[in-house]
Amino acid sequence: MSKVSNLTIRKAIKSDSDKIHQLLMDLAAFEKIEHTVEATNESTQLALFGESPSAESIVAELDNQIVGAAVFFHNYSTFIGKEGLYLEDIYVRPEYRGQKIGRKILFHLAKIAEQRKCGRMEWTVLDWNTRAIDFYKEMGAEILEEWKIVRLSSEGIEKLSNKEQ
Ligand code: ACO
Repeated sequence: MSKVSNLTIRKAIKSDSDKIHQLLMDLAAFEKIEHTVEATNESTQLALFGESPSAESIVAELDNQIVGAAVFFHNYSTFIGKEGLYLEDIYVRPEYRGQKIGRKILFHLAKIAEQRKCGRMEWTVLDWNTRAIDFYKEMGAEILEEWKIVRLSSEGIEKLSNKEQ
């Protein structure tokens, strides 16, 4: 019997919030961007379980312990004319990696995307994260090399919004 045979992938509930937040902080450290983090336990809880949630989460649970999580929300493609499922984060705790938990999380997300009639699923990955890139390719995803992420930081927004026309 595999070590993760009693794994459950389920929709996150409010009491999972702090654990999900910790996994997101661990992901930020893995991605070497922890110095940019502004989110707190409170902001994560509000985003996922507040009155008007900005995102949803699913968790991978093994023996009553959360060992992985994904956070996602819906975007919209004007070209496809359908909502998409945007995967913001996926993370499996280091000691549980390589046991197909990430795969099960992605299968679960694909099921949600199918049930909700999404036109596509999308996410970004750092170019040095070759293990994750290989994993995504193996799951049937395509890496769009010709697209670049364009971003305005909050300072950028402030500056631009105050610029003379
Ligand atoms: N350790 C082990 N395997 C890894 C790792 C890792 N750090 N990263 C990627 N993999 C690959 C392996 O090549 C493996 O392929 P194999 O089974 O053929 O050997 C495959 O992923 C493993 O598949 P699973 O066991 O289903 O994946 P896992 O449970 O390890 O989850 C994940 C994959 C989520 C990438 C996990 O390894 C992880 O959390 N890595 C660190 C954080 C990360 O890279 N997150 C994704 C960032 S991008 C985003 O969030 C949108």
